[in-house]
Amino acid sequence: MKLIYQQMLAFFAVIMATLLIVGLFFIQFTTRMVYNNTWNQLEGYADSLMQQALTVDKQTATFHGFEISMLKNSEAVLSQQKVHFAIFNGDNEMIYPLLPENQKHSVTKADWKRLENGERIRRTSDRDINRRNNGAEMTDVLVPYFYDGKLKAVISVGSLVSDVHANLAKIEHNLFIALLISSVAAIILSYILARYQILRINRLRGAVHKVARGDFDIHLETKQHDEIDDLAEDFNSMAQSLQASQAEIKRQEERRRQFMADAAHEMRTPLTTINGLLEGLQYDAIPEEMRGKSIELMQNETKRLIRIVNENLDYEKIRTNQITLSKRHFNATEALENIKMQLTKKAQEADDKLIIQSQPDVMVYADYDRFVQIMFNIMQNSIQFTQKGTITVTAKTGFHETILTVQDTGIGMSEAQVKNIWERYYKADPSRKNTKYGESGLGLAIVHQLIQLHHGQIEVQSQENKGTTFKLVFPDDAPATETTPTK
Ligand SMILES: Nc1ncnc2c1ncn2[C@@H]1O[C@H](COP(=O)(O)OP(=O)(O)OP(=O)(O)O)[C@@H](O)[C@H]1O
Ligand SMILES: [Mg+2]
Repeated sequence: MKLIYQQMLAFFAVIMATLLIVGLFFIQFTTRMVYNNTWNQLEGYADSLMQQALTVDKQTATFHGFEISMLKNSEAVLSQQKVHFAIFNGDNEMIYPLLPENQKHSVTKADWKRLENGERIRRTSDRDINRRNNGAEMTDVLVPYFYDGKLKAVISVGSLVSDVHANLAKIEHNLFIALLISSVAAIILSYILARYQILRINRLRGAVHKVARGDFDIHLETKQHDEIDDLAEDFNSMAQSLQASQAEIKRQEERRRQFMADAAHEMRTPLTTINGLLEGLQYDAIPEEMRGKSIELMQNETKRLIRIVNENLDYEKIRTNQITLSKRHFNATEALENIKMQLTKKAQEADDKLIIQSQPDVMVYADYDRFVQIMFNIMQNSIQFTQKGTITVTAKTGFHETILTVQDTGIGMSEAQVKNIWERYYKADPSRKNTKYGESGLGLAIVHQLIQLHHGQIEVQSQENKGTTFKLVFPDDAPATETTPTK
């Protein structure tokens, strides 16, 4: 069965059950009310009959009986209203109406006992009376009359039940019509309620279909706070995380594609050079005296290729957190002096002065090899991009940190170039190519990752044609956990 019908049925059942229960209670209540009214009325008649027809000798204060003529008058009036009465004397003998002996009857013994106790008896229908009234159902009251503490008379006043029932039937008829109208209203109401819920579910279904088609840009509005709204909220967050992971997959894919393209591009240049030289050698196109130079060039290119491959592997390792640092405190000045020694030749070739300005006891907390790698890269860059200038390296102890700077008087960079230097394969200016040092544009990207691994900071300030300054900060006590580099 479709959900809408299930819901409608449920709503309808609930509404109808409520209506029926209320209706039944109402009928019961009105029936009791109608009977009570009738009995009150009959008791009223009984009282006034007693008062009118009783004869009491006031002087002797004795009870005589009833005045039959008065009763006759009353009977004539009351019979018009379909009210009948009978009077019994203290011995349970019928004294009115004046019937032949064989038609007379008396009050049952049980009732008489109750009457003697002063109780008024209300009866919905009395078989005896019914019989006497040719089967017409009667309801009556029995009222005792006491004089001087003794039961002197009992009056029974009754009217046709059919009258009472006629009243009830009218009420029931109205109730039935109300029920009928309510049922129609219930059907309409249950349809509206069910449809409203189904619409909300269908809205969710629509969203699910959208997600299935790969469209994650979904936000379901939620107002009330019920379970369907909760589900919609959950669905929103699911769509959001799906969207995020989809974006991440795309980003990864883009990065992979970019990496492959860049790596291929980087490797093509040395390979083309080597290939050209090999062809030249094969066809004797290279003069004898140039051969040694050609082989040297090929060697350089091969080294460059190896370097590119190694650096790529290194970068990926750092990026995917595959390397662990073994950090310790060591003398930074000594480490810088060592690097200076390695770079002196390069500095001389570029006519650069390389100066270390540092107290002899400046300590740093880092992985020694990685520290050397970082500083070597930055200092090498400075030499690479500075001709006939000065490269000044400083190291000092800060507050729970070691601060290092590498300042050169080289060609510098524009603001836009500075922004990109941490990107892989980025070269501020491709025309600056200096194959001697095998530029791959990976150096600073690796430096950046390594600094992050050390929980340190790196900043760069540069002015075109004036020079560049790199500032590095190594904290003394890095948090125990190593974080994954983001790039
Ligand atoms: N001291 C500097 N002065 C001017 N430009 C610099 C300096 N350091 C870096 N750059 C610019 O930033 C770019 C990126 O530097 P990075 O060290 O990452 O690559 P690279 O030196 O070109 O190649 P690699 O270091 O991988 O051999 C350089 O190509 C250069 O344009
Ligand atoms: Mg470099």
